[in-house]
Amino acid sequence: MINQKIFLQHLCFHVIAFLIFTILSPLSMLHAQQPERIILNVTAQPATSMAVTWRTATEASDPKAEITIARAQPDLDEDALKFIPTSEWVSINEDQKVQYHSVVFTNLQPNTLYAYRVGDNDHWSPWNQFRTASVQPEPFKFVNFGDPQNDIYSLCSRVFRMAYTIAPDARFWHFVGDIVNHGDRDNEWGELYDAFGWIAQVTPMMLLPGNHGYPKVMNSLKKESHLNQFWRPQFTLPQNGPKGLEETVYFVDYQGVRLIMLNGNEMLEEQVVWLDSILADNPNRWTISAMHQPLYSTGRDRDNPKLQQLFGPIYDKYHVDLVLQGHDHTYGRTGKIFNGKLVGDNEQGTVYVVSVSGTKIYDLNPRYEKLMEKIGTGRQLFQVISATPKKLSYESWTANSELFDQFELKK
Ligand SMILES: [Fe+2]
Ligand SMILES: [Fe+2]
Repeated sequence: MINQKIFLQHLCFHVIAFLIFTILSPLSMLHAQQPERIILNVTAQPATSMAVTWRTATEASDPKAEITIARAQPDLDEDALKFIPTSEWVSINEDQKVQYHSVVFTNLQPNTLYAYRVGDNDHWSPWNQFRTASVQPEPFKFVNFGDPQNDIYSLCSRVFRMAYTIAPDARFWHFVGDIVNHGDRDNEWGELYDAFGWIAQVTPMMLLPGNHGYPKVMNSLKKESHLNQFWRPQFTLPQNGPKGLEETVYFVDYQGVRLIMLNGNEMLEEQVVWLDSILADNPNRWTISAMHQPLYSTGRDRDNPKLQQLFGPIYDKYHVDLVLQGHDHTYGRTGKIFNGKLVGDNEQGTVYVVSVSGTKIYDLNPRYEKLMEKIGTGRQLFQVISATPKKLSYESWTANSELFDQFELKK
């Protein structure tokens, strides 16, 4: 009798185990091929192209992206064009690899709303929509974020959501580095995508790496730092910068504004030469440059005289209008600066901004206080920057939607 009971218990166990294996295992395989961490990125030709990247936990079979001009009717798949991605494997820890897939949609029409989706024949993302840029100068806005870096899921998410509430029509989001605290940790990047929600699927991101994107690793008994292994696979950014700095140094001309992304972590001299060359040939009304490390430091007792010496003269020479920076976990916005000194509102000069969107807070640095029009610390912030052919309007908002700082530049 007891033996029979034990036999039945064993039988039950094996039947349940078999059911779990046969039902759940294919389900988890299905889930593993579902596109995740989908993100749009700006390209160097924003009027006619758009980049999208996603990943799958296992090998995707026949991955593709589809795109069509958005319309009210739901039959979007009927005439969608197919793009085959470039796919690559990336190790996320010692015994797990994932597959990243990237596509650049090309030959798009300017100033047009498109619908796209990514996946394979059995696992699709939603149809997401984005608008291409106009060819000619037209008013537009974008949102800028200083370092998110810490508490990305719990506390940066509210900044992202408020930014989307205040400026839902922003054409792209612009990040000046230290996007996560440890660039080589997959879970921190995962927090970022969770905090973005679907926003990254409809608003292209424009990013550059900070020092935390260059994690320190021991290499033959000495510490070295390199761009983290996730950056290039998970973003598809322009490659029009100096050789060796692809997808970290680049420029985009967007409706009358030249936006330049610089990398303050390596090869600075090469970037100065490149910056000089692209600013010598710049037909845009406005020029906005960005680098993680600031020229005029606002945090702790920091100072970056080398960055002032290298980049200050180029910004002066070509009358760069605005420089967006992070790194110092405080807020500071200068008046117009030329040759290291404040100049009048109607003179040629450059405004330098340091901001932070995350939770790491530093004390204020009094070193350049005299150059600052507005300075503060302890707040999570984002900036909405609007450009028209005659006016550049800048607003700095807090996480709870208070207007913290603003100014305008006119030409
Ligand atoms: Fe930093
Ligand atoms: Fe930082």
